[in-house]
Amino acid sequence: MTELLSADPSGIARAAALLRSGALVAFGTETVYGLGADATDARAVAGVFAAKGRPHFNPLICHYADADAAFAHVTANDAAHALAARCWPGPLTLVLPRAPDCPVALLAGAGLETLAVRVPAHPVARALLSAVGLPVAAPSANRSGAVSPTTAQHVLDGLGGRIAAVLDCGPCPVGVESTVLDLTGTRPFLLRPGGTTVEAIEAIVGPVGRGIPHATAEAARSLRSPGLLVSHYAPRLPVRLGATTIAADEALLAFGPPLSGAGATFDLSPTGDLPEAAARLFEGLRWLDAEGARLGLKRIAAMPVPESGLGLAIVDRLQRAAAPR
Ligand code: TXA
Ligand code: MG
Repeated sequence: MTELLSADPSGIARAAALLRSGALVAFGTETVYGLGADATDARAVAGVFAAKGRPHFNPLICHYADADAAFAHVTANDAAHALAARCWPGPLTLVLPRAPDCPVALLAGAGLETLAVRVPAHPVARALLSAVGLPVAAPSANRSGAVSPTTAQHVLDGLGGRIAAVLDCGPCPVGVESTVLDLTGTRPFLLRPGGTTVEAIEAIVGPVGRGIPHATAEAARSLRSPGLLVSHYAPRLPVRLGATTIAADEALLAFGPPLSGAGATFDLSPTGDLPEAAARLFEGLRWLDAEGARLGLKRIAAMPVPESGLGLAIVDRLQRAAAPR
């Protein structure tokens, strides 16, 4: 049985005690729900990979209550300090070299010499991290390759019975995962677009490199971010991108005024607002998947979304959802 805990002081205390004892607890952040484990406990971290069915070469993000705690475990540089001052707490993950005495289990970082660290903004997540007093390794709380969860119910749908508890933090306000930025090279490099826009990052640290090719599972081990598999965030139905026409046997993921004639329609944002669309993206994919199955529809067709601001993260997730499985 998976306990469903409410986001009050006793629920947070229970979640913290479970994490400290080596158990797995899912909790909400501003981006998506994470499946947390004590990052210094290799057995607990191994449990995360097992519960998700996640390949062991895909490293986890370590979550901290504040920047001082995060920077105690990595070697931070000027860019890291500047970004932390402006973007933390918030949906930005920084990849930095592990500190020489870093206590985070090597398994959490998939054996890499770098560590991904993040200070989430969600007030319940921050209260939980303060109460735990340890780094919490937390990938998104879904079965590996499936759509990320943005409610406690989504977590239970995928991982119920496989983890100790879910701390119900309500729906996640940002709705797409954090931006992952590699700061180990000569200039910042975008590994995953996400909740902090590239525009905001470049205003602080200047030009950001990008354009890592989408990896295949075979090639992934040798890449800088092994987790960036092509097929990811995948609903059960196939996904068609850039839809400007729609058929009656298709489920429409609309952006702006919807095309008419679809078998089912979920509008990410009728007014074309990117933050609203990001917050509703994974909910929309789940809903269309369920409606499509119920009605016998053939695929999900997604209308075009502009690739600026949060649109870059939305398009990235849709491309992965549409990639060959
Ligand atoms: O918003 C988020 O980031 C959520 C919440 C729970 O914080 N977490 C999340 O974790 O999305 P996950 O495991 O689903 O995605 C982490 C990404 C993966 O693509 C992984 O490969 C990459 O970060 N990553 C982790 N550690 C890394 C490292 N040392 N070097 C490069 N990439 C790394
Ligand atoms: Mg994930």
